[in-house]
Amino acid sequence: MTKEEILGVAAITIVQNNPKLFHVSENLENSLELIKGVKSNVILFPELAFTGYAFTDRKELEGICESPLEGRGKVFSYFRQYCVDNNVNVAYGFVEKYKDLFFNSMIFVRSNGEFELYRKTHLFCREKLFFSPGDTGFKIIEENNVKYGLAICFDWMFPESFRTLSLMGADIILHAANLVLPYCQEANRLRSLENRVFIATANRCGHENNREISYDFTGMSQLTAPNGEVVKRFSTDNCEAVTIDIDEKDSRNKKINPFNDLFKDRVRKFYHL
Ligand code: ACM
Repeated sequence: MTKEEILGVAAITIVQNNPKLFHVSENLENSLELIKGVKSNVILFPELAFTGYAFTDRKELEGICESPLEGRGKVFSYFRQYCVDNNVNVAYGFVEKYKDLFFNSMIFVRSNGEFELYRKTHLFCREKLFFSPGDTGFKIIEENNVKYGLAICFDWMFPESFRTLSLMGADIILHAANLVLPYCQEANRLRSLENRVFIATANRCGHENNREISYDFTGMSQLTAPNGEVVKRFSTDNCEAVTIDIDEKDSRNKKINPFNDLFKDRVRKFYHL
């Protein structure tokens, strides 16, 4: 684990891992090794962080899904206790089963063990074969005066996602990802700039094969700042956890010069929504 100091109000830990498809216990164990000794306000893991991604049908989801709203789930139970024991917030992606539907979801477990769920709004490619589109809408979670927005992977492709979270007051967007296209890391610099917001992207690395499906994940997890700079970018293939201090107040000033304010200057009557 490396620690990088910037301005220092909220400390965020971004984890890049490489889970093995369906090996939940082993993936959890390996990921916990990465965050051993971390001191942070929030630890962010990738989308579907402990299950893998390359599913081919709904049946495969049955054995690895979790249902936090019904109090069920091995990873969920583990982190609920972990957050209380370590006085930390943890966010990660997982397969959620709710009634008879599966969602590509993200959970934010608070340091007191309470939690919030976000269900992925924009499903990518074959995800549409087995996941239902998210029905929660975008979420902001406030902890110790910092406002965290939740987003999952392909949400980045729709500028409305991060715009909405920013208009809702996000200081930092927690973006859990399993990126397979090469564009997001650069695009998120612009998403940060156009919204003057921090974006933490926890992406996975490695390769997955399952029957006729195969994916290469792009790694390069990163933190981008409200001025569009890349504060930290990981390598394409190393599993690691990096803790970065940010001053969330940098996201709250939407002025870009004495005359322009990014949000007040919007001319909504000319926009198509
Ligand atoms: C993606 O949304 N996992 C590409």
